Amino acid sequence: MKFGYFDDRNREYVITTPDTPLPWINYLGCQAYFGIVSNTAGGYSFYRDARLRRITRYRYNNVPLDLGGRYVYLRDDESKEFWSPSWQPTRNDLKDYACRHGMGYSVIGSTYTGIEAHTRYFVPLDENLEIWQLTVTNRRATRARISAFASIEFCLWDAQDDATNFQRNFNTGQVEVEDGAIYHKTEYRERRDHFAYFACSESGAGFDTQREAFLGRSRGWENPAAVEAGQLTNSIAHGWSPIGAHQVKLDLAPGETRQIVFVLGYHENPKDQKFDPPGSQIINKKTVKPVIDKYLAPQQADAAFERLRQYWEGLLGIFQVDTPDIHTNRMVNIWNAYQCMATFNMSRSASFYESGIGRGLGFRDSNQDLLGFVHMAPARARERILDLASTQLPTGGAYHQYQPLTKRGNNDIGGGFNDDPHWLIVGVSAYLKETGDWSILDEPVPYDNEPGSEKPLYEHLQRSFRYTLERLGPHGLPLIGRADWNDCLNLNCFSDTPGQSFQTTTNKDGKVAESVFIAGLFVHAGRELAAIARRRGLAAEAASYLAEVAKMEKIILQHGWDGEWFLRAYDDFGAKIGSKECEEGKIFIESNGFCVLAGIGLEDGKAAQAMEATRTHLATKHGIVVQQPAYSRYYLNLGEISSYPPGYKENAGIFCHVNPWVMIGEARLGHGDRAHDYYSRINPSAREEIGDLHRCEPYVYAQMIAGKDAPTFGEAKNSWLTGTAAWNYYAIVQWILGIRTSLEGLEIAPVIPRSWPGFTATRIFRGVVYRIDIERKGEGNRIALTVDGEPIVGNVVPPPTDGRKEVSVKGVLT
Ligand code: BGC
Ligand code: NOJ
Repeated sequence: MKFGYFDDRNREYVITTPDTPLPWINYLGCQAYFGIVSNTAGGYSFYRDARLRRITRYRYNNVPLDLGGRYVYLRDDESKEFWSPSWQPTRNDLKDYACRHGMGYSVIGSTYTGIEAHTRYFVPLDENLEIWQLTVTNRRATRARISAFASIEFCLWDAQDDATNFQRNFNTGQVEVEDGAIYHKTEYRERRDHFAYFACSESGAGFDTQREAFLGRSRGWENPAAVEAGQLTNSIAHGWSPIGAHQVKLDLAPGETRQIVFVLGYHENPKDQKFDPPGSQIINKKTVKPVIDKYLAPQQADAAFERLRQYWEGLLGIFQVDTPDIHTNRMVNIWNAYQCMATFNMSRSASFYESGIGRGLGFRDSNQDLLGFVHMAPARARERILDLASTQLPTGGAYHQYQPLTKRGNNDIGGGFNDDPHWLIVGVSAYLKETGDWSILDEPVPYDNEPGSEKPLYEHLQRSFRYTLERLGPHGLPLIGRADWNDCLNLNCFSDTPGQSFQTTTNKDGKVAESVFIAGLFVHAGRELAAIARRRGLAAEAASYLAEVAKMEKIILQHGWDGEWFLRAYDDFGAKIGSKECEEGKIFIESNGFCVLAGIGLEDGKAAQAMEATRTHLATKHGIVVQQPAYSRYYLNLGEISSYPPGYKENAGIFCHVNPWVMIGEARLGHGDRAHDYYSRINPSAREEIGDLHRCEPYVYAQMIAGKDAPTFGEAKNSWLTGTAAWNYYAIVQWILGIRTSLEGLEIAPVIPRSWPGFTATRIFRGVVYRIDIERKGEGNRIALTVDGEPIVGNVVPPPTDGRKEVSVKGVLT
């Protein structure tokens, strides 16, 4: 069953049924001011940091799940009936309901009793505000007198405190109303130098700033008393719960359309210019007013929207492809790239499944996110890399996350994950391949943000590599520490206390538990680092990395091979995990996928065997599960992985993040059919038809699809913020379509399905437009390339040396 359709020409997904199985959301903003908006206008906004600078309030785990947001109400002032054109919160029986989620904007609207209304929500580029453009049209044959209301609930900035510290918070709320604009200034009188505002383009028929005055006692958002009465009360909040609500009266002739603009924003003043007049307690509005006035003008709002549209056109234009598969095209050209921007911006902090207060920007996560994002905004990727590296510890290890507002690392969701440091090498390498900007390696970057500790970024990479060499276990494999990529494989934890966090509880300083996955990652990152060193003219250093890599490879093949597949780990007792000797958890995806991705066992057939075993034991019609058999009970020596019921999350769920490692593995073996088949199984667009089973948005990946051991096999959860976005993008673009960045230039090595006659693509790479046309003449993956009509040797297209800005590349596969 479908709940809408893709409008590829407009790059929109159009939801036509408001009652989707879960909130189907979109992100507003792509720089510093962000919002989440659901298909029924639920959600919230924040500045930079969903925990520390929350602008509007949102209650997670609500009933219904998604309630509270950017609600518009319309009231027929004659019949006194009121409704919300976004369906929630009033849930009327609307006509022609549609929510168009697009690139950085959403338009939600419907028709009710002959009144057509829709609201376009977006955040203009380079501004810390969001615009709501409400358009109301009278489709009746008679005049209509309509009141329009717009409402939001302010958050008292720190979302964690806001949701818990009521003894204080019920006393601190403060607002100002000036020239019809509402200013939220809680704590501005003391240490904050920022405030929020909510303004309206029409001189209003009323406002409210105290929640109780607007909603009435014992009522919710579904029937606000002031809307029902048809008149806002001009309340001024003192303590309790400040809100922003505006009322506008419209008198519409038949066929007449009116547009009202609302602007919700965030503003900072210099510390010594907070008040006007100085010495008073009144917000100095000198710098904010021009911004508000500008965007309340509909033509300025339209111009800002047009700029946003062009911005996305430019970003997505960096890579476009035309293949015989519509789901591939749509995800690569539009939605997967778009999701990569969201994961870059949010890491794992704020979605409908990440509360915005639980996690900040993950070290492992954000480095991997670069794989899918770096081509779109290399300057921002550069800044992110330097921010991440600045939190690295002097040991080469890493905090598991940092808070976006402070950019300081912390252990709130644990530390000591021994895979973390290597992802920095992977991220930096992706950046260098994309940009050729070698200067980044010389940037002075501190350790643990400690002034005075700055060393060139390159040294951070060296320390990342050494980190593992200084932490090897009894077999010579890397010690796992708290966990590796799989946060839930907690081999040193031994937690038997209810409710204790597996992520943060003190672990034993284990010297036995080893990870084959980290070994594979070490090989991969080590090769990347060696290539970087070689290009920097450090041949001996490069050779020493390769020697360590070769040693590790040998150890993997000796102690990390189980006969038919790669082992997963050794536990604290030195017992195997992910082995045929185990009762449960005999085979795991991570070590098999990543070792083959790293090229281990390609020569002696082990890679092919590992992929075959993965296919036999782990692949399902909905994707590849983490391990089999699922753990049926809790194992003290394994930790959180066995805490999940079978088939969910790390316990044999289909973790979509790691599926691409197998796709890449198959591509490395030359198996284009298999690689693309795995790609299609989890491709959300290809799953659109089974929307009632899949349940999450069909336009973005979810972190997990329930595995075959779960009663809900095939149901997705945790959409949007997942490494799945970057890895799938990377797998399809760089390994299946085979348009791959390398330190030397653009490499072309497609491993596509045999049935494809070819494909065409456009790639803007280091300032040059490459028009690529691949034609299949035989069944294999051998490619012969001609560049501007001239045959070339090998498959790396040399960058033009004569200033040409466009080249055409023809590839023939045989
Ligand atoms: C989840 C993991 C997550 C970890 C850290 C665990 O409960 O299963 O997927 O990475 O928490 O937040
Ligand atoms: C989600 C985390 O964000 C990611 O870092 C981790 O690798 C996976 N869960 C697997 O545990």
